Amino acid sequence: MTVIGIIGAGEVGGQIARAAIANGYDVVIANSRGPETLQHLIEELGPSARAATAAGAAAAGDFAVVAVPLKVVNDMPEAELAGKIVLDTNNYMVWRDGHIPVIDSGEKTVHELRQEHLPRSKVVKAFTHIQAPRITTAGLPAGAPGRLALSASSDFPEAVELVTRLYDQFGFDTVDNSPLSESWRSGPGQPAWLAHEHQTRAELIANLARARRIVSR
Ligand SMILES: NC(=O)c1ccc[n+]([C@@H]2O[C@H](COP(=O)([O-])OP(=O)(O)OC[C@H]3O[C@@H](n4cnc5c(N)ncnc54)[C@H](OP(=O)(O)O)[C@@H]3O)[C@@H](O)[C@H]2O)c1
Repeated sequence: MTVIGIIGAGEVGGQIARAAIANGYDVVIANSRGPETLQHLIEELGPSARAATAAGAAAAGDFAVVAVPLKVVNDMPEAELAGKIVLDTNNYMVWRDGHIPVIDSGEKTVHELRQEHLPRSKVVKAFTHIQAPRITTAGLPAGAPGRLALSASSDFPEAVELVTRLYDQFGFDTVDNSPLSESWRSGPGQPAWLAHEHQTRAELIANLARARRIVSR
């Protein structure tokens, strides 16, 4: 049985947990307030889920998802995530996260910063340009006309391969938009992000190519 450690039990973490359990995974899920505050979610998710601390979820997972905003100073359990593939769903939102100068200047992408925070993990950007509720409703079988595509970006090919398998199980095609330094192409405001509701593989490839970097110095 493959266990996914999910840090973040909000909209995205909860939906990835539902989709994962529907596809035969076990999940260990955490929020910032402690496992006892996740009782209702665990009751809904059923016996394939349990709640833990963030460190506990990271330690339990064969791989992990961090569905939490990025902080300037790392607040993820680096040691427990070491050696693991870590799916990062974060979108940088200034209204929520404040300004992070190295991102605003274009020196680094959000996900390069997450990779720096987790130097012993293999970070892969995933699930960032789909609205959370659609993770469990918008999937289609492989080969179906109009099947949506999602991007994955990583400095590690094996991390993109894992996400490709997971996307396929959840009902989505994959476009590899690696390495992490290119991950801005699917960020908020870019064509690939804006077209999230109906974007086939060919359309996503075209939209990633049309992206123009937004830099403020
Ligand atoms: N919502 C969407 O449709 C969507 C789509 C794609 C990507 N995203 C991105 O995905 C990320 C998560 O979004 P969301 O909408 O799921 O957010 P959300 O509903 O606000 O949930 C965030 C979750 O992260 C937890 N959390 C925050 N800091 C933590 C920490 N240090 N340790 C453990 N848990 C922590 C929160 O726990 P508490 O509640 O206990 O504080 C909460 O469970 C964001 O970066 C967002 O930009 C969102």
